[in-house]
Amino acid sequence: MEIFGVDIGGSGIKGAPVDLDRGDLAQERHKVLTPHPATPDAVVAGVCEVVEHFGWKGPIGATFPGVITDGTARTAANVDKSWIGTDIQRLVSDRLGGAPVTVLNDADAAGVAEMHFGAGKDRKGTVLLLTLGTGIGSALFTGGRLVPNTELGHLELHGHDAEKRASSKAREDEDLSWEHWAHRVQKYLAHVEMLFSPELFIIGGGVSRKAHKFLPLIEGISAEIVPAQLQNNAGIVGAAMAASEA
Ligand code: BGC
Repeated sequence: MEIFGVDIGGSGIKGAPVDLDRGDLAQERHKVLTPHPATPDAVVAGVCEVVEHFGWKGPIGATFPGVITDGTARTAANVDKSWIGTDIQRLVSDRLGGAPVTVLNDADAAGVAEMHFGAGKDRKGTVLLLTLGTGIGSALFTGGRLVPNTELGHLELHGHDAEKRASSKAREDEDLSWEHWAHRVQKYLAHVEMLFSPELFIIGGGVSRKAHKFLPLIEGISAEIVPAQLQNNAGIVGAAMAASEA
């Protein structure tokens, strides 16, 4: 079965029909640049452009980089604040002539895909996927089930919002060495481990492609730490999976 998945990110809006049996894109994905300012109207127009590129008519799953309950954005840490309170599910559905739309947090979507098709497959204990990107996203699983909207990127770390210290953006903005940044990530993981005692950390986000540069530098964490496997497409695949369950 195929369902459409769209990933709304800070730099691009990417989507494709997803083959849910294989957990992979059924066609090459289409991407448009995220408009700036990334207001609801402008972003939804981008989402519709991606969907219409394929002439897609069926159900759609979409990710959003903030808390989502009842299809509505509740936070907007790294996107335009006017998103807060926006019923994104209804907005996209209305613009697409009433197509069924399911929206979930971006890290939750990536986690759902990784648990089913990637690094978390068959893991029944507590698993935490952390995406280290512009922000830090988190997806918490136990018994394979998601606890949505955990927002562990906003834990306090040495008096700072953790994502401001340990995201991939922090490494780039502050021009940190891999060693220096890995040290911060280690401190962050130790804090999260103290709170949740996961058996496995899955590290996602674009930087997971460079896992060999920083994961070997991380010490003193009891849980296993592995890079995500689906990488760039995890959000698209997870969004489609969530839409199929809805
Ligand atoms: C947001 C999360 C999101 C993460 C990754 C954080 O700033 O609060 O909801 O999952 O960034 O995009």
